[in-house]
Amino acid sequence: MTPFESLFANRPVILAPMEDVTNASFRGLCRRLGADLCVTEFVNAEGLLRGCKKAQRKLTLEPDDQPTAIQIYGSDPPRLAEAAMVAAEARPCAIDINCGCWVPKVARRGAGAGWLRDPAAMVEMAALVVRSVSLPVTVKTRIGYGTETEMPIVDLARRLEDVGVRALTLHCRTAKMGYRQAADWSWAAKVQAVVSIPVIANGDIKSAEDAARAMAETGCPGVMIGRRAIEHPWVFREARALLDQGTHLEPPTLAERLALCREHLAQNVAERGEPFGVNHTRRHLGGYIRGLRGAAALRRELFTQTTLATCLATLDRFEARHAAD
Ligand SMILES: Cc1cc2nc3c(=O)[nH]c(=O)nc-3n(C[C@H](O)[C@H](O)[C@H](O)COP(=O)(O)O)c2cc1C
Repeated sequence: MTPFESLFANRPVILAPMEDVTNASFRGLCRRLGADLCVTEFVNAEGLLRGCKKAQRKLTLEPDDQPTAIQIYGSDPPRLAEAAMVAAEARPCAIDINCGCWVPKVARRGAGAGWLRDPAAMVEMAALVVRSVSLPVTVKTRIGYGTETEMPIVDLARRLEDVGVRALTLHCRTAKMGYRQAADWSWAAKVQAVVSIPVIANGDIKSAEDAARAMAETGCPGVMIGRRAIEHPWVFREARALLDQGTHLEPPTLAERLALCREHLAQNVAERGEPFGVNHTRRHLGGYIRGLRGAAALRRELFTQTTLATCLATLDRFEARHAAD
């Protein structure tokens, strides 16, 4: 078994690539909480080839940031192949090609889910990228663009396997659906039934139970979690406990929740300064404290703060009040 294939031996629970979310520090945090494999934010192939700062930041992988795949996106096959070669120098465990982003500014230009409008071109592009690097190449996509009479994904998956793609992540919606309607995992089952490469089921996996059910219903050896990880990164350890021991873990304690708020705020402020680092953490904080007694008031108070020191003081006061109750 190759090192890449061995990643799928233990039913991995994978952190989804999320722009402006899955940077190095968030990947580290999720990995500590049980994520088996992480994917970077998507990196624009053109930006990467121009050496733009943002792309370079996204490409930097510290030695302990493994296994992590680097995701690239673009609409021009030779440029994507070149970008893959540059990304490979950062030594990720795989190069992932984004063929699923539905955002109009990406998809309308032929990148991301735009590739689903021309499956033959998508397969050719993937073949070129596979030939250009010695690392495993994976593809993340959706079931179709949404205008087809028949979803292309089953045939497409076979053809991607034929040209050497080593794993496929399937967000079980069309591009046109965006995030509307429920993800239909039966597509992941249909795809996994016709290919031997691992298919990773993605879309609406929000709990340990969902992760186990998605694997059982689809026969996929792995699942990928996006939005739920933003607000509840403990989902990874909860899923691991259920998959490995059949155990339903207790939710994180108040102390753990507040500790994660502090740690994540400090990391983001160190990276982005004030007030941006604080503002950037807000999308996580509401989820981290959800369910605690007094969470709504704490959230309101936290969301008016702009410095690390005042956030920490707010959290300390909240913890002291709880201890006194
Ligand atoms: C804030 C945000 C940013 C995202 N950025 C990316 C991205 O850079 N690349 C990608 O392939 N998908 C991206 N996605 C899609 C997710 O990886 C995932 O496929 C989708 O959210 C469905 O999974 P979920 O229901 O677990 O969230 C993003 C999603 C969110 C919410």
